[in-house]
Amino acid sequence: MSSLTQLTPAQRTARDVWTSGNYPEVAEQLIRAFGPTLVDELRIGPGQQVLDVACGAGNVAIPAAIAGAEVTGLDIAPALLNQGAVNAWAAEVDVTWVEGDAEALPFDDASFDVVTSAVGVMFCSSHKKAAAELVRVCRPGGAIGLINWTPEGLIGSMFPVLAPFMPAPPAGAKPGSLWGTEAYVSELLGDGVDELYSERRHVLFEGLAPDAFVDLMRVNYGPVLRVFERLADDRARADELDAALRRYVRGCNQGEPGRPRLESEYQLTLARRR
Ligand SMILES: C[S@@+](CC[C@H](N)C(=O)[O-])C[C@H]1O[C@@H](n2cnc3c(N)ncnc32)[C@H](O)[C@@H]1O
Repeated sequence: MSSLTQLTPAQRTARDVWTSGNYPEVAEQLIRAFGPTLVDELRIGPGQQVLDVACGAGNVAIPAAIAGAEVTGLDIAPALLNQGAVNAWAAEVDVTWVEGDAEALPFDDASFDVVTSAVGVMFCSSHKKAAAELVRVCRPGGAIGLINWTPEGLIGSMFPVLAPFMPAPPAGAKPGSLWGTEAYVSELLGDGVDELYSERRHVLFEGLAPDAFVDLMRVNYGPVLRVFERLADDRARADELDAALRRYVRGCNQGEPGRPRLESEYQLTLARRR
């Protein structure tokens, strides 16, 4: 099912970025824990209608379906949804995959008991629209569960390292990592929710050395890969970016020689729909 007939430039960019490289490999290596975390914290289980927004290849949608819920996963990138369908088949669960924009969800008001998004809606161009849509499609008394990179964590702070090598963002664009701060997410969700709870946590990138992390990002993670693609004709600048990234990630290493320890801070936000 698709709710997108003709893509806007912003929708096309989002689709192209996240389809570049191999995002499912990044999710598998770095953030597999996010699905079980949201399932546990929201007590997702049988009898619930769950929507996972900006679902990628099913990192949260599939664990929610394994927990027994009826799950819909929505994303702007059909290639990721196709991979999600393969992953769901392998996990022997059913998920309804919907191609669509988080800023204009193709669902009626109050359609879901639980609405989730793991490092998903934070990448939308209009934070306001995406937040309003999460609230709109959740039924009164239902739950919203979000995971967002914080501005200070390894991933959240990696975007400012990329910024000098990228075109200037559109006027008024705000960093996605703002979703990883309680005041901002609370303002975004607004009066539509109460019982808002936020907690900062860390996800460990098990056994990954800084250089291996940068290699993974360069090859597989669209937002990084695309910056290097832009610099394809400027070897010196590409080397500068590579060096800046490696310097930055090495500085985040909290391990000892031979035993790297990289982790990234994220914010878990749970809220009750009024
Ligand atoms: C970092 S990935 C997270 C995917 C997934 N939630 C996970 O945990 O692996 C960001 C996702 O947001 C999706 N996305 C970005 N902008 C979107 C939009 N406007 N509407 C729907 N999905 C969007 C991308 O296609 C991508 O799958």
